Amino acid sequence: MPDLFEIMESCRAMRRLKPDPVPDDLIAKILQAGICAPNGGNIQKWRFLVIKDRKIKEAVQVWYKKAFDEWIGPRYLNSSPPPGTNKEKYLRQHSAVEYLTDHFAEAPVWIVACVADPKPDRSTGASIYPAVQNMLLAARALGLGCTLTTRHLFYEKEAEAALGLPEGVHSYAILPIGYPMGKFGPVKRGPLKDIVYQDHWGTPYGNA
Ligand SMILES: Cc1cc2nc3c(=O)[nH]c(=O)nc-3n(C[C@H](O)[C@H](O)[C@H](O)COP(=O)(O)O)c2cc1C
Repeated sequence: MPDLFEIMESCRAMRRLKPDPVPDDLIAKILQAGICAPNGGNIQKWRFLVIKDRKIKEAVQVWYKKAFDEWIGPRYLNSSPPPGTNKEKYLRQHSAVEYLTDHFAEAPVWIVACVADPKPDRSTGASIYPAVQNMLLAARALGLGCTLTTRHLFYEKEAEAALGLPEGVHSYAILPIGYPMGKFGPVKRGPLKDIVYQDHWGTPYGNA
């Protein structure tokens, strides 16, 4: 198994997934890694919904795709490539994003990360996304492809109704998981020197 730093450096969004089933014990390992994460006061308000039912996934995919057609697709076409990437790579990412949009329900397993919090705020998110990241890393370590997705939240009410979430419970991410079609490769980011400061905002950090 690669070491933690290699895992982090190659934990890319893997959007092209095979429909082959994923063993339950691997999903359990991913969930177990999730709940090792820090969370406010260790209150553990997180809940995780594992979805394999194709009909439920398809009902959510309707909203995920609608948000792509209305917002995300046009935005991609009109944006410049992010730091650390270029036009060609960005177009490849766009095509993978579109692929996942059209095949969302085909991912054999979804983990929906939820929180039962009557008054969600920034700290609610801070208490679930570390678990989400742990699960992304665990999936990568196990050779499974996964992507942090939140686009269903453009239609939060409708998507959460399709997910069957009870009152007071909200979803923060859907992780579609499956064996990847392609290979894991390095993540692409801009250099540290452009984003790390020392002591005073704007003063470059010497070691970056
Ligand atoms: C808050 C958040 C929401 C995201 N939502 C989606 C999504 O709905 N669909 C998707 O394909 N990728 C989604 N992503 C994945 C990002 O697009 C991806 O992390 C980014 O492009 C960098 O690519 P990499 O992780 O492969 O390096 C999301 C990531 C974050 C952090």
